[in-house]
Amino acid sequence: MEVQVLSPAQKGRIYLRKNMITLGIETSCDETSICLLETRGEYPALEYRVLSHIIHSQIDIHSKYGGVFPMMAKREHAKRLVPLLEQALSESGLGSRSIETSKETLETVRKIYGEHDENLFQMIENSSLIKEKPVIDRIAVTVGPGLEPALWVGINFANALGTLWNIPVSGMNHMEGHIVVSLVPKTQSKNTFEKLTNCPFPAIAILLSGGHTEIVLVKEIGHYQILGATRDDAVGEAFDKVARMLGLPYPGGPEISKLAEEKRMSASSPHSAAKIDTVRFPRPMIDSPNLDMSFSGLKTAVLYELKKHSKITDDLQNEIACEFEDAVTETIIAKLQKAFEKNEAFALIAGGGVMANRHILSACATFAKNHKVPFFPPSTGLSGDNALMIALAKAITNEKTSGQMAGDPLRASGNLTL
Ligand code: KG4
Ligand code: ZN
Repeated sequence: MEVQVLSPAQKGRIYLRKNMITLGIETSCDETSICLLETRGEYPALEYRVLSHIIHSQIDIHSKYGGVFPMMAKREHAKRLVPLLEQALSESGLGSRSIETSKETLETVRKIYGEHDENLFQMIENSSLIKEKPVIDRIAVTVGPGLEPALWVGINFANALGTLWNIPVSGMNHMEGHIVVSLVPKTQSKNTFEKLTNCPFPAIAILLSGGHTEIVLVKEIGHYQILGATRDDAVGEAFDKVARMLGLPYPGGPEISKLAEEKRMSASSPHSAAKIDTVRFPRPMIDSPNLDMSFSGLKTAVLYELKKHSKITDDLQNEIACEFEDAVTETIIAKLQKAFEKNEAFALIAGGGVMANRHILSACATFAKNHKVPFFPPSTGLSGDNALMIALAKAITNEKTSGQMAGDPLRASGNLTL
């Protein structure tokens, strides 16, 4: 048998030909995230390996003010992107080669992409990123939906790197990212190639985040139809607003779910003290024939309930949190029921930050079980915003993305739809 010995240069070439390295960048809201993802093959046979993935949360900054301030988010993204990418590159062990960036190129990059982000541009100029070109084949960046000032920072950064390193940049849809990341297997081993879980299509996806609440028919990856959406507040937004009314810190989702869990535990305890147990909120639009939802009325119902009491006691807080969570959960499940009645679908996919909520998650799991369809929730740590979902969306869809196509000048699109 003939054994071929490859020189390091040949090995490098084969490596590059077979495998793709994607840099994912996510800055749509209050998480700055960078991912370096290696992939080979095509979905559904696509194999991936996470080389590095960093999520920097801005919660500490925004929680003082009770919500996300777009201009503050923008500043923080601009401050973090360069150091996070340098850290991700060093963790990934990816090779690089020296490059000479001419003054003219730097000036062009400053003019086109640095104009609105002078700080970001200066950080790029003073970093190793203009001296070394890492083995990265392409860049995928979130272009929407999200907060436009925050999105622009990621887009300017991606475009600047694409120009400096002469590699393509694609704009990705954040919500598509929330869908595809739920196909990541629940047990992951580090440093080895993995396959995504096999999902039968068409599937129905329930997407619950701080800015969006949608039920989507996923005909296949890359082909989506929104079946229903909230007409006002997103579920995460409603959680955050109700939490604020109860005097709880931002983000309110995890706070409310903690209190609701306490209430359920104490209600099932034989030693539970007398409880209020009279709070009842509406299940908005539960009987409407369509799949649209509305959560702002729930917020008003909470306000009226609070007016009845002179003091917000711990018991009242727990009671409201629990009833609010029940109202949201029952509404979502009723809409999922309608979605499955009206459409042929073979799986339920769940995504978005609110999917960290154990009560909602387990209600969706039970729903899928009763309907005898497989359930694809996000893995722990991947329900919130992250750049793995953006790199993965690029690797899975290749060019069939629902975001913006490579070649077009990328623009932030706050209201981008699937
Ligand atoms: O997807 P995501 O990280 O960001 C957006 O794209 O909006 O979602 C953030 C939202 C916030 O509103 C937050 O309160 C909510 O997800 N959230 C939760 C929980 N953890 C995060 N909502 C309910 N229960 C939770 N455990
Ligand atoms: Zn999100």
